[in-house]
Amino acid sequence: AEPPYAEYIRSRIRTVPNWPQQGVMFRDITPLLQDPKTFRVLVDIFVHRYMDQKLDIIAGVDARGFILGAVVAYELNLGFVPVRKKGKLPFDTIAEEYELEYGSATVELHADACKEGDRVLLIDDLVATGGTMIAAANLLKRIGANVVEAAAIVDLPELGGSQLVRQQGIELFTVCD
Ligand code: PRP
Ligand code: ADE
Ligand code: MG
Repeated sequence: AEPPYAEYIRSRIRTVPNWPQQGVMFRDITPLLQDPKTFRVLVDIFVHRYMDQKLDIIAGVDARGFILGAVVAYELNLGFVPVRKKGKLPFDTIAEEYELEYGSATVELHADACKEGDRVLLIDDLVATGGTMIAAANLLKRIGANVVEAAAIVDLPELGGSQLVRQQGIELFTVCD
C-alpha cells in the first residue's frame, strides 16, 4: 500500500494532455508548488526521509529539480550543486547526452561539484524514461560521488524509467505515480 501522503501530493499534480507534443500526458507540478500546504508537505517528506542519511550534498537537475532540491538542501543544512542543461555552467565541466520522453539533451556538471566519496542525494521532479536521472547520476559518479539515492516527486512507471534507473544500481525514491 502507498503511504498516506501520496494521494495528497498526487491530487495537486495536473495532467495536461498532448503537451509539449501529441501523445504526451504532461504532469504539471506547478499547482503543487503554488499551494503553500502541499509545498510544505512535499518538502517535509524529503527532509524526513534524508535527515539521518549523513548526506554531504544535494544535486538537483535543471530546471524543475532545482526548486525542490534547493529547498531540501537548505532545510538539511547542506550545500546544493546544479546539474545543468548544456552550455550553462562556466567552469570545467563534464557532459552526458541522453534521451528523454520528448527528445534528447545534454546535461553538464562542474568537475569540482563534490569531493571523491561524497554522499550525494540526486533530486529531480519526475522520472519518465529515466534518461535524465541516469545521465545526472552518471555525471556524479564520474567525479567520484557516492549517489546514495535518486529521488523525484513523480514516477511514470508505464514508461519504464524507474525500472531502468534501478537496473543501473541506483536506489530510487518517488512520492507518487
Ligand atoms: C523533464 C523532467 C525531468 C525529465 C524526465 O525535464 O523535469 O527532468 O524531463 O524525463 P526522462 O525521465 O524521460 O528523462 P525537461 O528536460 O523537460 O526540462 P525542465 O526540467 O527544464 O522543465
Ligand atoms: N518529462 C518527461 N516526460 C514528462 C511528462 N509526461 N510530464 C512532465 N514532465 C515530463
Ligand atoms: Mg527536468
